[in-house]
Amino acid sequence: MTGPESEGLQLRRAVCPGSFDPITNGHLDIIARASKLYDVVHVAVMINKSKQGLFTVAERIEMIREVTGEYGNVVVESHHGLLVDFCKERDIPAIVKGLRAVSDFDYELQMAQMNNGLSGVETLFVPTNPTYSFLSSSLVKEVAAWGGDVSHLLPATVHRALVRRLAEKG
Ligand code: PNS
Repeated sequence: MTGPESEGLQLRRAVCPGSFDPITNGHLDIIARASKLYDVVHVAVMINKSKQGLFTVAERIEMIREVTGEYGNVVVESHHGLLVDFCKERDIPAIVKGLRAVSDFDYELQMAQMNNGLSGVETLFVPTNPTYSFLSSSLVKEVAAWGGDVSHLLPATVHRALVRRLAEKG
């Protein structure tokens, strides 16, 4: 092992969790900002078996790795189970979440308080860049499915994959 951890220095770690079906420019903005604040940012693609995604978890991970590679300190993984267990297993003390609008706040506050009560993990809220305050993966998929242009809302590779997948589905 080389680097700060080999010298006994603890790396500051945070996690950006989500479904990322697929990752949008809004997600990417939060991950990029978190990557400047922490030594290592774990992106956790949370598996929800009751929700059929447009992309498989493996595809989502591959897309996220591709678009976050340039940051140099982002690790992309999946997790089936509680987010607090993902954090415990990796010694991650902080969850970083984007807040788009007041409408996000109620549920995000509940999750933050639940997670803190379960394990002591902290949640830090980052205000979403106003350019992306309306943006969600669901909305992007809906607009794209009806032929709307969402190319400015996704990384180019993700946009290409979305157009391809929607065409396959017919
Ligand atoms: O991108 P999403 O779907 O809005 O992300 C929500 C997500 C996956 C971050 C949240 O549902 C979650 O943390 N799920 C993992 C299971 C869990 O820990 N549930 C208890 C939350 S208090």
